[in-house]
This record gives sequence, structure tokens and C-alpha cells, in this order.
Amino acid sequence: MTQDEMKKAAGQAALAYVQPGTIVGVGTGSTVNFFIDALASIKDQIQAAVSSSIASTERLKALGIPVMDLNDIDGFDIYVDGADEINAQMEMIKGGGAALTREKIVAAVAKRFICIVDNSKQVDVLGKFPLPVEVIPMAREYVARELRKLGGDPVYRQGVVTDNGNDILDVHGLQITDAKGLENTLNNLVGVVTVGLFAHRGADVLLVGAPEGVRTLSR
Ligand code: A5P
Repeated sequence: MTQDEMKKAAGQAALAYVQPGTIVGVGTGSTVNFFIDALASIKDQIQAAVSSSIASTERLKALGIPVMDLNDIDGFDIYVDGADEINAQMEMIKGGGAALTREKIVAAVAKRFICIVDNSKQVDVLGKFPLPVEVIPMAREYVARELRKLGGDPVYRQGVVTDNGNDILDVHGLQITDAKGLENTLNNLVGVVTVGLFAHRGADVLLVGAPEGVRTLSR
């Protein structure tokens, strides 16, 4: 089974969590694209989607799925998104696709986070995947120096501008054993918009595409 087939299986499995007549939160990335394609097959049964990126909005609309503005919604049940890494506590690194800020905002509004991954994303300790940090462009070098003091090795993601007009630093060399603490510390750095650690808002359900089928974990 290829990695794409495992992603597709996880994306399709997330359809089981979509209730008729509801608004569905939609993340960003190659795994979520499989979920969006599956969601199109039941588009007449849902109210709308709320999206975490320009890329996902375009894909949703192209498939005829209406997209609502988050500001027009009081709340909704589920947010479906991928992850770059996820540990046994359901804490995640996200932002490999640079959509971390809108993803964190949409996830914050949802009642439940349904995480869809292939089995390569499960880790014991977060940090092998470089941690994305979205920064205000004029603060980039200041934040990079502060990240070095914390033991990280930040690398500017050249040529990438987020949907919000900001820069991304990818922080290498971290072994994240206290994800909530590190999320707090990095959130306190002036100039940081969003940290790609989803520890305080971790996943509630994890669907892992694997050769033997889709494994479900919940907390
Ligand atoms: C987007 O910024 C990310 O948070 C993605 O959700 C994450 O990188 C997973 O992407 P893939 O599904 O493409 O691996």
C-alpha cells in the first residue's frame, strides 16, 4: 500500500464523523485533499464547510461545496485535518504546508479535532519534523535569535509567504518532551503569530491509514 493510499483511506474514514446538516471544518494538505474529495460525494447532505486556507477553499468550491466565513458561525462540531507528526498524547506538529495559523483558528472553534494521517506521522517524541513558526516579517531575525537561545536551529522558509502575508521559520533540532510548555514559551515571543505545535488543542480522534486498514484512536 502506498503512502497516498493510506492517506486516502484515512481521509475517507473521516466521512463517518460528518453529521447531516452540519458545518464541517476543513484543514489543509495532501491528506485533507482526499477528505475534501470524499466530502464532495455527500455535499448535498451538509450545510457548508469552513476552510483553513486559500488552497482548501479553492478545492472545496471547485467541487461545489459551499464555504462559510468563520465570523458568520457560532460554532461547529468537527474539524478534519492532517498533521506532520502526532504523539501518543495526541499532540501534533503542523504547518508543513504553511497553513498553521488559520488551521489553529478553525480548530479552536470546533468541538472535536479529527486528525487524519498515514502511519509515517506517528512518533514517540515530537521534533524530528522541523517545527514551523509563523512570524511577522520584520521580526523574523529577532525571533530566530530567540529560538536559537532555546536550543533550536531556525531556518527561514525562503520563497514562502503565508495566506496572512507572514514568514515561516522551520525550527530544526528540537526534541519536544513538554509540548504544552514549549507552545506557551514560543507563543510569548514578540513577533510570533502562531506556533505549529498543537498541544493545548490536540486531536480528539486520530484516524491512521495503515496497510492493515484504518486504526482509530480517541481520547
Ligand atoms: C498544513 O499547513 C499542515 O498543517 C498540514 O496539515 C500538514 O502539513 C499535513 O499535511 P499532509 O497531509 O500533506 O502531510
